[in-house]
Amino acid sequence: MAYFKTLAAGLFALLFLAPFIMATDPDPLQDFCVADLDGKEVSVNGHPCKPMSEAGDDFLFSSKLAKAGNTSTPNGSAVTELDVAEWPGTNTLGMSMNRVDFAPGGTNPPHIHPRATEIGIVMKGELLVGIIGSLDSGNKLYSKVLRAGETFLIPRGLMHFQFNVGKTEASMVVSFNSQNPGIVFVPLTVFGSNPPIPTAVLTKALRVDAGVVELLKSKFAGGF
Ligand SMILES: *[C@@H]1O[C@H](CO)[C@@H](O)[C@H](O)[C@H]1NC(C)=O
Ligand SMILES: *[C@@H]1O[C@H](CO)[C@@H](O)[C@H](O)[C@H]1NC(C)=O
Repeated sequence: MAYFKTLAAGLFALLFLAPFIMATDPDPLQDFCVADLDGKEVSVNGHPCKPMSEAGDDFLFSSKLAKAGNTSTPNGSAVTELDVAEWPGTNTLGMSMNRVDFAPGGTNPPHIHPRATEIGIVMKGELLVGIIGSLDSGNKLYSKVLRAGETFLIPRGLMHFQFNVGKTEASMVVSFNSQNPGIVFVPLTVFGSNPPIPTAVLTKALRVDAGVVELLKSKFAGGF
């Protein structure tokens, strides 16, 4: 009897839960579904589609990554996002892109994309790309300095960063297997959450004095 219960539970899990456990965005059921970003009334997993007649004929193209971002920022980098919010044509297609420009010494701080694996190519300059494995890997840092034309792969959910080790501007273009990969910036998440994580939690977790935690919180209080 117990055996059949286990079998039934296993089958249930396979049949009904498997589709939700599988990675990447769900498959589209039409040629395109240009996001109606103002569609406030209907809530779906993504955005509702504009009527085909209103989609226009430009939704398969974008010029937004053609222009370098301004790298005079606290990170010394500028991210130009091209996910569904900037490119409504990607809605339901399970893909999106970003361009990141870096001043010398600039960084794309350690961060995680909760919903996508990332694949990228260095367009210009010299970038140190680092990816930290989960505890399964022994917390291993995988890193390499990449130059124009060289590519990298960031498995979904792993923390990673880029850093311009060259003397000139650097840039890269990346692609995600989600229309909305999401981003968790580690320093901002830990020290700049809203409301803040209690200092007592962070002093214990980070094994430092409250003064150190307060200092770090002050750096990220404004969102940067
Ligand atoms: C880049 O940003 C800095 C700081 O906000 C600003 O002073 C500068 O004019 C900007 N440069 C360009 C080319 O927009
Ligand atoms: C700089 O990094 C912080 C996270 O540490 C992030 O919130 C912010 O968007 C980044 N800014 C730029 C301009 O890249």
